[in-house]
Amino acid sequence: MKGYVDLHCHYLPAIDDGVRTAADGLALLAGLRRIGYDLVVATPHIRTAMFENRPAGLRAAYDGLLASPEFAAAAGQLPHTGLAAEHWCDDVFWDLFTAGESMRYPGGFGALIEFPPELIPRVEERFFAMQRKGVTPVLAHPERYSPLYQKSDGIERMLDMGVLPLLDLMSLTGKYGSAPKRAAERMLDEGVYFAACSDAHKPQDVDVVADAIARLERLVGKEEAQELLAEGPRSILEGTIDS
Ligand SMILES: [Fe+2]
Repeated sequence: MKGYVDLHCHYLPAIDDGVRTAADGLALLAGLRRIGYDLVVATPHIRTAMFENRPAGLRAAYDGLLASPEFAAAAGQLPHTGLAAEHWCDDVFWDLFTAGESMRYPGGFGALIEFPPELIPRVEERFFAMQRKGVTPVLAHPERYSPLYQKSDGIERMLDMGVLPLLDLMSLTGKYGSAPKRAAERMLDEGVYFAACSDAHKPQDVDVVADAIARLERLVGKEEAQELLAEGPRSILEGTIDS
């Protein structure tokens, strides 16, 4: 059985609302390795007026962490790593994308997008344009958007066009409240998700993620859980998406 692949994680220190220190970033990575992750992609926020990150700064932070003596000392306990970003879906993202400067997943076949929590924007045309360039939009935590709490209609068209939704595992534990938890359970039932990820922001999240994986296995069975945790995310990186 192959290890898990995490396509949503905030382990780059002091760059968004994720970990504050390199030690915590490495502790988070080591914790994820312990519970079964082989590969964890950093997805720091690029979010206007909140986390004004840009690719050059994110790459420098990532390279700095990997070149640090602390990283070398911990290397035996760490998963493989990669770098992308969690893009707030606005004109800034679109300008970055059209300039070829968005932070796609390693391999270049997908890009992680998040929507505002209370609104599903009309972005189908832009998403089609991404797909024409060979980049699949990957949608962060649909269960956490209030228009989708009761039903999934708001993203049906996106699903039809091949947008890939990522379950935020910790939604299953109630970490974000009962409405996202219920929505996540319903979307699992509906087969909405293409993959599941941690969206971990601190080392203490690892225990919650482990609990969430156990819940996921109870809800959908071990085989489907493995698909969501390992095969699905790996296929996004390899560009072998078969949705
Ligand atoms: Fe996130």
